[in-house]
Amino acid sequence: TFVVTENCIQCKYTDCVEVCPVDCFYEGPNFLVIHPDECIDCALCEPECPAEAIFSEDELPEGQEKFIEINADLAEKWPNINERGDPPADADEWNGVPGKIDKLTR
Ligand code: SF4
Ligand code: F3S
Repeated sequence: TFVVTENCIQCKYTDCVEVCPVDCFYEGPNFLVIHPDECIDCALCEPECPAEAIFSEDELPEGQEKFIEINADLAEKWPNINERGDPPADADEWNGVPGKIDKLTR
């Protein structure tokens, strides 16, 4: 399973959803998640993210392990997204900012 991690928060570029063959992305106000039971591990989304926020659960950067549970939880609550949308106007300013987990809107 692939996991969306912290750097997606406030960036939400949505390039990832365009390539997912099984449409397993779910959208919140300022973050996207992957449904762990639907992801087929194709890895196509990983290189598409301009924020480099997508990782295999086996290769998560240190400190990002909590996003496994966050993805599983929010994928059950948020609506599916299968088309690219406009990112927030200030997305580039948030790219790489540490500590964005405090900004996650559920
Ligand atoms: Fe979709 Fe493949 Fe990414 Fe899983 S790894 S979320 S199936 S594009
Ligand atoms: Fe987020 Fe990257 Fe997709 S910023 S919305 S995981 S392209």
